[in-house]
Amino acid sequence: MAAHSNKVIFHDRMLSLGLARVSEAAAMASAKLVGRGDEKAADQAAVNAMRDQLNLLDIKGTVVIGEGERDEAPMLYIGEEVGTGNGPEMDIALDPLEGTTLTAKDMPNALTVIAMAPRGTLLHAPDVYMEKLAIGPNYPKDLVSLEMSPADRVKALAKARGCAQADITVCVLERPRHEDMIAELRSTGAAIRLITDGDVAGVIHCAEAEITGIDMYMGSGGAPEGVLAAAALKCMGGQIWGKLLFRNDDERGRAHKAGITDFDKVYSRDDMVTQDVIFAATGVTDGSILAGMKREPGFLETETLLMRSKTGSVRRMRYRNPLKS
Ligand code: FBP
Repeated sequence: MAAHSNKVIFHDRMLSLGLARVSEAAAMASAKLVGRGDEKAADQAAVNAMRDQLNLLDIKGTVVIGEGERDEAPMLYIGEEVGTGNGPEMDIALDPLEGTTLTAKDMPNALTVIAMAPRGTLLHAPDVYMEKLAIGPNYPKDLVSLEMSPADRVKALAKARGCAQADITVCVLERPRHEDMIAELRSTGAAIRLITDGDVAGVIHCAEAEITGIDMYMGSGGAPEGVLAAAALKCMGGQIWGKLLFRNDDERGRAHKAGITDFDKVYSRDDMVTQDVIFAATGVTDGSILAGMKREPGFLETETLLMRSKTGSVRRMRYRNPLKS
C-alpha cells in the first residue's frame, strides 16, 4: 500500500474480483434456506461462508460494520481481523444477508453485501437507527435535505426533474414509525413503494430510477445499512444523508465506543465513505436490482453487482457454479 497526499492507494481493481467471490459465496451458502422460514439458519450459513471466503483475500482487513459487537456476534463482529494478513490495511463493511426475513419468506430484494475501503475511511456506524434520505445521480448538490419536510423534498425533486409531484415515487420501509411521513407524502400526490425490509436495496433503487421507478428513498433504518448504501451510491452516483438516532444511553454508549462525538451530525455520502471504495452485492431472492439465485440440475447461478468508485464502473456478473455432488 502506498500513500500519496492524504489518499491511500489500494489495488481496487485486483481486489474487486475477490470481493465478488466473497459476496457470491455468502449467497450460495444461503440458497438452500431461501423460503424455508428459518432466518437464523439462513443468516448463519451466509456469515460462515462470507467469513471463510474473506479470509482467503490478501488483505489486512478489519470489520468496521459487521454482525454486531464482539460479545453478541461470534463471527464477523466489529473489530474482527479478516484476510490473510498480507496486503493493504482495509476497512470492511458487510451484511452477509441483508433481508433475513425476505430470505426466509422468499420475498424480493434479499442481498448479500460487502464494501471495502482503505483503513480509516468508512464510518464506524454503531448498531442504532439512522434517519436516511437518498436520491439518484445528476441532481444539484443539496437539492433535498434531512432538514426539509417530506413534502418539500418531493416538491424540490419534482421541480428539478421537471415533472409533476405525482410522477415522483418514494421508497419507504413499511413501519408504524413512518405513518406520519407516509401520510404527508400521500398528500403531495407522490407514489410510495413500500418495502417490508431491505433498505440497502431500497436506497440503491434511486441510482437506477429509470429501471426501478424509484426517485427517492426516505425514513429510518439500520445505521450500518446506511454506510453500505453510501458505499453503493459512491460507486453509482447519487446522494445520501444520514443522521444517527438514539433511543437510550446504551445506544449513545455504542456510538461513543465507535468514536462518534457529535451525536447530531448529518452525514453526507462522502462523510460516511471518505475515499474510494469497492462494493459487491449478490442477489439472494429475485429483485429489481439483481436477479435471485437460479437452481438447475447440477448448477446454481448467481448475479453479482460489482462496483468501484474510482472509475464509477458498475458490472453485473452472472456466475454458473457447478454444484459438488
Ligand atoms: P435484517 O436483514 O438484519 O433482518 O435487516 C433488514 C432491515 O430491513 C434493514 O434493511 C433495515 O435497515 C432494518 O432491517 C430496519 O430495521 P427495523 O426492522 O427495526 O425497522
